[in-house]
Amino acid sequence: DWVMRDHIAEAVEAIRQQVGDEEVILGLSGGVDSSVAAALIHRAIGDQLTCVFVDHGLLRLNEGDMVMDMFAGKLHAKVIRVDASDLFLGKLAGVSDPEAKRKIIGGLFVDVFKAEAAKIKASHARHVAWLAQGTIYPDVIESGGAKSKKAVTIKSHHNVGGLPEQLGLKLLEPLRDLFKDEVRELGVALGLPPEMVYRHPFPGPGLGVRILGEVKREYADLLRRADAIFIEELRKHVDPHSGKSWYDLTSQAFTVFLPVKSVGVMGDGRTYDYVVALRAVQTSDFMTADWAELPYALLKKVSSRIINEVRGINRVTYDVSSKPPATIEWE
Ligand code: XMP
Repeated sequence: DWVMRDHIAEAVEAIRQQVGDEEVILGLSGGVDSSVAAALIHRAIGDQLTCVFVDHGLLRLNEGDMVMDMFAGKLHAKVIRVDASDLFLGKLAGVSDPEAKRKIIGGLFVDVFKAEAAKIKASHARHVAWLAQGTIYPDVIESGGAKSKKAVTIKSHHNVGGLPEQLGLKLLEPLRDLFKDEVRELGVALGLPPEMVYRHPFPGPGLGVRILGEVKREYADLLRRADAIFIEELRKHVDPHSGKSWYDLTSQAFTVFLPVKSVGVMGDGRTYDYVVALRAVQTSDFMTADWAELPYALLKKVSSRIINEVRGINRVTYDVSSKPPATIEWE
C-alpha cells in the first residue's frame, strides 16, 4: 500500500543521507529484525552494505543455506558466511550449565564478528564507518531495567553492548522507531518471504539452550531433524475453525533434546535411544504463556514421523507446563 511505500522511500532517503558514501557492516542472524534491517539498508545503499552471517552450528535444519539463498541469492546483497561451528562446539565441550553456555556462545559470537569486521575494514577502499543493527522500539524501551537473569543475557547477546565503540563504528539503527508488527509489514513490503518474516522467535544461543546440558554435534544433528518434522507438520495442519495453520496459531514451537535414553522396541529388536520433548505455547508477550492444546492427530503424526525417520530417537513427549512457573525454553 502507499503508506508503506511512502515509509520505505522516506527510510531509504534517511539512510542515504546518514551514510553518504561510507560503508556499513551488519550482523545477519536469520531473525526477523536483522533480516528486515538488512533488506532495507540494502535497498538504500546496495553494495555499500556488507552483511556478516556467523553460523555457530546451532541453527535449525538448512537455516544457514536459507539465509544465504535469500540475501546473497535473491537480494544480491554482499554476505560473508562464517562457518564457526567447530569453534563454538569445541568451546562448549564439557559445559552443561545453561548460563555458562549462553556466556560462551554470546562471547564467541562477538569475537568472531569483531574479527570479521576488522578484516572488512582492512580490505575496503572506502571508509567503513557504520555498524547496523536491527534494534526495534521495544528493545529501546526495554533496556531500562531487565527483569530476569535471562533477560540480561538476551540483551547482552542481541544488542552486543559496546561493540560499535570497540570497532570504532557509528551505530545505524533504521528500525528504532518501529514495533514488531510494523517491522514485519516492512519486511514483506521489501520482498522478504512471509514465512521468514512471520517466523516464531528463535533464541540467540539457538539449539545451544534446546539441548539440555552438554552440547554435542550428534545431539544437535538429531534435534535439527526432529524439530524440522515438528515445524513442517505444524505448518501443514490447518485448524478448520480459524482456517489457520497450527504454526500460525502458536507463538513459539520447538523441540527439546533430552540427553537421556529410554528403552523401546522396533521389529524384533529392543532399542535404547534418546528422548525429545515437543514444546508449543501461546502467548501475547512471552512473559506468561499457556501450553498449546494441539490436536491429538497432529501430535500423533509428529511422534510417529520422528520415531520412524530419526534413527537415534525412540520416544517423543509433549510438554504440558505453562509459564509461570515453567519458562518457555527448558534452559
Ligand atoms: P523463557 O524461556 O525465559 O523465554 O520463557 C522467553 C522468550 O525469550 C527467548 N529467550 C532468549 N532469546 N537469547 C535470546 O535471544 C536467550 O538467551 C534467550 N532465552 C530465552 C525465548 O525463546 C522466548 O521467546
